[in-house]
Amino acid sequence: MLNINPQEVGNQESFKYLVGAVSPRPIAFVSTISKDGINNLSPFSFFNIFGSNPPVLVFSPSRRGRDNTLKDTYHNLKETNECVVHIVSYDMIEKMNYASSEFDSDVDEFEKSGFTPIDSKLVKAKRVKESPVHLECKVLEILEIGGKAGSGNLVVCEIINIHVNENVLDEKGHIDPFKLDTIGRNGGNWYTRANGNALFELAKPTGIGIGYDKLPEYIKESDYLTANDIGKLISHIEIPSIDNANKYINQLTKKEFNKVNFEFYERQNDCESMLELLLNEKVNINYFNRVVKVALSQRQVEIAWNVLVYLEGK
Ligand SMILES: Cc1cc2nc3c(=O)[nH]c(=O)nc-3n(C[C@H](O)[C@H](O)[C@H](O)COP(=O)(O)O)c2cc1C
Repeated sequence: MLNINPQEVGNQESFKYLVGAVSPRPIAFVSTISKDGINNLSPFSFFNIFGSNPPVLVFSPSRRGRDNTLKDTYHNLKETNECVVHIVSYDMIEKMNYASSEFDSDVDEFEKSGFTPIDSKLVKAKRVKESPVHLECKVLEILEIGGKAGSGNLVVCEIINIHVNENVLDEKGHIDPFKLDTIGRNGGNWYTRANGNALFELAKPTGIGIGYDKLPEYIKESDYLTANDIGKLISHIEIPSIDNANKYINQLTKKEFNKVNFEFYERQNDCESMLELLLNEKVNINYFNRVVKVALSQRQVEIAWNVLVYLEGK
């Protein structure tokens, strides 16, 4: 592997690898107000939440890599100790990008970028009407780390008020990621849009699964199961016994093998119908492997295990 020592390669080179690797990063679109009443609006992707009781977020208006100067957002936070952090949806990105330009500190960046300022409830900084989620914040602490070009200033904030546009909620009142349509920052000029195929569900593990260490060798050594297939198998609660696997197979209706029908059911992700075609005569083991793949792709892990155990016992 490429080995990079940040001390040896310097800030610019490390930055390149870090922002390329730690990605996509969420984007805080931060509104502050100067002590003279000038509105500021800037995006920061060194950002995340770090607790919910009290609700805490952290972002970093860093020292400029170019000349080690500090940003207006940092100065405003030092002076006023408050801000509003906004979530950026896809339809905001062009104006958000424009708002990241280096405007003089006497420029109202709401006016300049065309976002609509609306009053906050608990802080003086304005909110961005176009954003789906607004987090009013009080600064708890600013951790200044390094003091060199590119050094971070970690702004630790308590979120004291949350606004969510009802348009991004589902029928249960939860935030619907498709409606939020948020964006993340990658390295270079790359962004990620959290929508379409980029979104997928993965349920949390329930109970303690089998684990890789308990996996039979014939599964560890299989050449058709991917790392994610193995991950699903080891998350299952227990390996079925041979008796149970046979019982499962024997309750299926045996049908005559027919390749066209098999592939039809494969396209339908119907692994039980696929299996029923394999039980009568001697068919190539690869067909069983294809059933296992379909079962795993559909998260029917119990079926996949039953087939694997049945095959091993045959
Ligand atoms: C998507 C995006 C993410 C950014 N993330 C950061 C960041 O995490 N930290 C930072 O210091 N600058 C970041 N920048 C650059 C600042 O937005 C930029 O320096 C801005 O001009 C600062 O404005 P200010 O001087 O008004 O505070 C980012 C820019 C973009 C477009």
